[in-house]
Amino acid sequence: VTQFRDVQGNVVSGYGSAHARFVFARITERDLAQEWIGSLINRITFSDDRVDEGGYTINLAITYAGLRALRVPQQRCRRLDAFKDGMARRASLLGDVGSSAPGVWRQGLRDTHLLLTITAWDADVLDERRAEWLRELIKPGNGLKFSYAQSAARLPGDREHFGFAGGHSQPAVAGADLGPREGEGTLSSRGRWRELATGEFILGYDDEGASKPPAPAGPLGESATFMVVRKLEQNAAAFRTYVAEQAARAGRDREWIAARMIGRWQNGSPLVSYPEAPGPDASSDPGAVNKFGYAGDPDGLACPLGAHVRRAFPRDGLGWQGRLTQGHRLIRRGISYGVPLPDGDPPDGHGRGLMFVCYCGSLERQFEFVQRQWLGDGNAFGLGDDRDPIAGGGPRGGGIAIQGHPPMFLANLPQFVITRGGDYFLLPGRPGLRALASGDW
Ligand code: HEM
Repeated sequence: VTQFRDVQGNVVSGYGSAHARFVFARITERDLAQEWIGSLINRITFSDDRVDEGGYTINLAITYAGLRALRVPQQRCRRLDAFKDGMARRASLLGDVGSSAPGVWRQGLRDTHLLLTITAWDADVLDERRAEWLRELIKPGNGLKFSYAQSAARLPGDREHFGFAGGHSQPAVAGADLGPREGEGTLSSRGRWRELATGEFILGYDDEGASKPPAPAGPLGESATFMVVRKLEQNAAAFRTYVAEQAARAGRDREWIAARMIGRWQNGSPLVSYPEAPGPDASSDPGAVNKFGYAGDPDGLACPLGAHVRRAFPRDGLGWQGRLTQGHRLIRRGISYGVPLPDGDPPDGHGRGLMFVCYCGSLERQFEFVQRQWLGDGNAFGLGDDRDPIAGGGPRGGGIAIQGHPPMFLANLPQFVITRGGDYFLLPGRPGLRALASGDW
């Protein structure tokens, strides 16, 4: 799409590749690092590039600390508080405390400068490329120091480690020409779904409030977006045990209990449309999988008010025809890491989870708002200080109410997800990458 020609790939439409490698590095020598970025530009994958299934993609993102290491002046980043702080300094706001606190994050996964993301459809292609890139990255004399690498791969059946089909609901972006699909944009005043304003995701364009969100001044703010990366470790054994216990206690199927926590059945069909038994597989009916709202279920009788997908995007469930939720959308491009835990197996000591990746035009208004207000608190939904059952952060102990006749309460939720590290990045567009290479920002 010409409009997004200079935007890096995987933002307005997802690659869908099966394998990924995230490589983090720090800048040690400015001039050499700039030269290296310059040598990379022609190989970076942009939105318009066609990538066939035997191919691979490569993208480069940079933190504020990285910009500073290249001596980009502070004044270029006015009004970008979250970006400037970096993720570790926002920990208490994000619920990254206790075992999720930055003090115990993986070495090399905080205070990073650069992130190189390589993806491929074929595992061998990825292996080859990542070896090549790693050699290149650690080659002496390029001004960089490798700090962390993480492999990731889509799991069989596109499930995440708790067993749910993932990645169904993505916001529709104006200009992306993916065609408006019901449930994926925002509701118009006439109750029809329309695409979200481009500026919700791509800097330099108007957002839903008809203004441009704060962006780096100059070329760094052109065709760019913000990228959130979090390594979220999932305790699959604890999740299954808890679900089994609650199912036994309530005299319900495990799948029924698990679906109440997520807000979709494991096959992806939405609870609000299919409250008692799973509907058709989401993959067999991609158009229908997002065609729903919560206005018709104000009390959470079909989909609990505190279920993950209902919190993460309450659609029209907060009234005002969805206008209260349209400024808080995320383009999610997460991918699982680690091998799945076979059903019925006890904990095996292997790390597994989600490399959570999302893109947004405003870190504060979109990612942080969702994490803090909707996942990390219950106030917006009349649920007091109850948090999201899986991604609510903080030490656990709270529960999730399942509205109904009679209502039910799943108490003493263990902490199923631990943050292992991450950061806030700018994903510069072509002009920004050129500026980084030339020093002409
Ligand atoms: C390990 C942690 C997480 C797991 C296992 C998880 C799992 C899921 C699943 C199974 C879905 C439904 C399928 C889909 O549309 O992808 C979903 C949807 C979603 N999740 Fe998460 N998630 C996690 C963390 C997060 C975090 C940290 C955020 C945001 C801060 C988030 C935001 C969303 C959003 C916005 C949706 C789509 C809701 C909709 O549009 O209806 N998730 N998640």
